[in-house]
Amino acid sequence: MLQSLVLLSLLGASFATIHTLIISGDSSGGAFSARFDDVTHELTHTGMSIPGVNGGNWIALPSISTAYLTFRNASVVAAYDVSPSGALTAVGSPVVVPVPVYVGVTHNSSFLFTASYPSGAIATVPLDQNGIPIPPASTTTFTATDPLPSPQDQSRPHSGIVDVSGQYLIFPDDGLDLLHVYKIGATSATFLYDEPSYVRPAGPRHGVVSGYPVVRDWVPRLHVVNEEDNSVETWIMHYSPNNMSLIMQGSSAVSTLAVPAGMNVSTAAELLISPNGKYLLASNRDASLFAEGSIAVFRINPPTAETALTRISITTSGGANPRSMSLDRTGKWLAVANGNSNSTAMFSFDQETGLLARTAVANLTGVRGGLIFHYYFR
Ligand SMILES: *[C@@H]1O[C@H](CO)[C@@H](O)[C@H](O)[C@H]1NC(C)=O
Ligand SMILES: *[C@@H]1O[C@H](CO)[C@@H](O)[C@H](O)[C@H]1NC(C)=O
Ligand SMILES: *[C@@H]1O[C@H](CO)[C@@H](O)[C@H](O)[C@H]1NC(C)=O
Ligand SMILES: *[C@@H]1O[C@H](CO)[C@@H](O)[C@H](O)[C@H]1NC(C)=O
Ligand SMILES: *[C@@H]1O[C@H](CO)[C@@H](O)[C@H](O)[C@H]1NC(C)=O
Ligand SMILES: *[C@@H]1O[C@H](CO)[C@@H](O)[C@H](O)[C@H]1NC(C)=O
Repeated sequence: MLQSLVLLSLLGASFATIHTLIISGDSSGGAFSARFDDVTHELTHTGMSIPGVNGGNWIALPSISTAYLTFRNASVVAAYDVSPSGALTAVGSPVVVPVPVYVGVTHNSSFLFTASYPSGAIATVPLDQNGIPIPPASTTTFTATDPLPSPQDQSRPHSGIVDVSGQYLIFPDDGLDLLHVYKIGATSATFLYDEPSYVRPAGPRHGVVSGYPVVRDWVPRLHVVNEEDNSVETWIMHYSPNNMSLIMQGSSAVSTLAVPAGMNVSTAAELLISPNGKYLLASNRDASLFAEGSIAVFRINPPTAETALTRISITTSGGANPRSMSLDRTGKWLAVANGNSNSTAMFSFDQETGLLARTAVANLTGVRGGLIFHYYFR
């Protein structure tokens, strides 16, 4: 009896997947690491990812051993080696870029790109063969003023998205209500055109791509979450030699809220896609400081459907101000950083049905950070 119990627990242990999470944010005082055991559901704080470094925020994790981290206050982006426990060790030197809120990397790691919401600018920095940034950054500042009545009065690039071919880079501009489309070159990107949001002011913030090759029969599409009208819009990416056009699917964007919040109530924040390409998840921060946020789940319909997305649920985020969230690579676990509650909630998700659990299995408290990144599991 005792023996079989021991055997059972050993079997249980061998089936557990240990997830490493990195939690950071403007007010977090740095980046923390945490581990999640998906059998016992223990979510524990394991230490500082970078001791003594203040103000780290967005992280790109192009591989399990490499990270790029933005430091908004110092206006730099820096490269790190990542250990299996989530500890970060600096490699190379930080590179000066306009106040960065986002960093991403091209498909072949030829350069990194940053978006600067405060300065209305984007930047690219070439990477060497070891992934180390080579200064100086190449910077573009968008000088146009926002012609529409909205809280944003200038260009506010919020993120950058690389398409499936690795040839195009799209920067959602929250202030100018458009997408800046760039062609990726060997060491930097060249401007092609601006695609205005379908409804304005929309506040395009983050985006994901869907379709081929994850869903082989579906053409590539770009889904963008808008933080001013709290919606997700879907563009079909139409390729021609040396260009890629964005054609809106259907006539309107789909709300992230059951009841529209109205103008100037910015709530939609993050957008994720399930690894199987079937569902989108958008976070709503809610307008009031300590009110509970929510997560909207959308089924992605075929590219030929009249409406690109069908919202299937809105459930709690497990705390206040869910600015960032992350799905693990199997699509079974959603970690939500609830910045204003100093907590991170873990929910189970079923990527075949789109069912997001209404109750969290774990809630890590006492760790300040509004951004969360899942990068490794064994
Ligand atoms: C970053 O700068 C802001 C504004 O100056 C300040 O409120 C905040 O405390 C700083 N954060 C860190 C981590 O130094
Ligand atoms: C939204 O905010 C802008 C800028 O603060 C203001 O001009 C506009 O009147 C506001 N709109 C509404 C509907 O409150
Ligand atoms: C990376 O991809 C870009 C875009 O296709 C290309 O121009 C560049 O030569 C590639 N770099 C390497 C090192 O393969
Ligand atoms: C690329 O496509 C966009 C959107 O259709 C169009 O506005 C632009 O003129 C095209 N650029 C070139 C160089 O063909
Ligand atoms: C997690 O903890 C925070 C801080 O105590 C709390 O506000 C929040 O409601 C908790 N969430 C869940 C899902 O237990
Ligand atoms: C979050 O943590 C900070 C710093 O410890 C504290 O000032 C703030 O009151 C905390 N917020 C909540 C909701 O516990």
